[in-house]
Amino acid sequence: MKPRNLEPKELIEKLKEEHRELPALIDDTILTYQVGNLSGAFPVLVQIRDLLSQHTIDEEAVILKIILDKLNKEESEKYVDIMRDHVAIMKNVDDAVESTYTGWTETVALMENLRKISAEHHRREEEILFPKVLELL
Ligand SMILES: [Fe+2]
Ligand SMILES: [Fe+2]
Repeated sequence: MKPRNLEPKELIEKLKEEHRELPALIDDTILTYQVGNLSGAFPVLVQIRDLLSQHTIDEEAVILKIILDKLNKEESEKYVDIMRDHVAIMKNVDDAVESTYTGWTETVALMENLRKISAEHHRREEEILFPKVLELL
């Protein structure tokens, strides 16, 4: 997967849009599962994983690169730290996809956890990381 071909400003708008879409997609997966429609819930879960994979690649290849190019190691640390959340977020979404292979018993709890950790991560990106990147452009 390659970063999307967007200017940084345009990319940030797209990333913010996706931050707003994610909770609804998570709720959609949970509700579709809870009404017993597993074959409907699974594609939404895969859609979430694909969306987050592309989203994370864009943030690390484009947004983080601006930080690393323009700030020294000490100045960049708090922004790099926000990007470290991606490891736990992607692990959580992979675990959720895998949990569907073993009877969906863990899936709702994993999706609820994903909603929680991604909300805090998105808040940090929108309040701390994105404004800094826009300032550095
Ligand atoms: Fe992120
Ligand atoms: Fe993000």
